[in-house]
Amino acid sequence: MAKSPHLSRNEFVKIVVGAVGTLIGSVIAFPAVGYIVSPALAALRGGGKDTWIPVGPLENYPLGVPTLFSFTRTKINGWEKTTNSYGVYIYRKNETETVAFSNICTHLSCRVNWNEERQQYLCPCHNAQFTVDGLVAGGPPPRPMDQYLTKVEDGTLFINFVEG
Ligand code: FES
Repeated sequence: MAKSPHLSRNEFVKIVVGAVGTLIGSVIAFPAVGYIVSPALAALRGGGKDTWIPVGPLENYPLGVPTLFSFTRTKINGWEKTTNSYGVYIYRKNETETVAFSNICTHLSCRVNWNEERQQYLCPCHNAQFTVDGLVAGGPPPRPMDQYLTKVEDGTLFINFVEG
């Protein structure tokens, strides 16, 4: 018996179900692929982990007094966008030497504060103390304060910020 050139009802339903399934699969798959590939592309573009950040004119920071500089960084990772705040103590030891310390305690990541009277950075969480040079003076921290490289260009101080 010769086959009819027209689709049977069953064949038509199979084709429609297949087309709808493919469409739904595509709608789900394209964003998912983008989510996976986008961070990889950002990394290939050099979506850097360390960045030189200007922290203002060097002369704004007094000699011998650690001074807090606060800033925020926004990180985009695929569809996720997060903004974090950071603090860096700028310490000009003398006219030619400037250091920058993270204000994150190296024990369990609380924020340390410079105490002018005691001439130490103090952590309120578990009573850590650090010297003006960031060395552990007491308490539980396992290592000195984290330090960033610094440079001066045209009178502006920069820190080499490394995102963790
Ligand atoms: S987090 Fe600073 S002493 Fe524990």
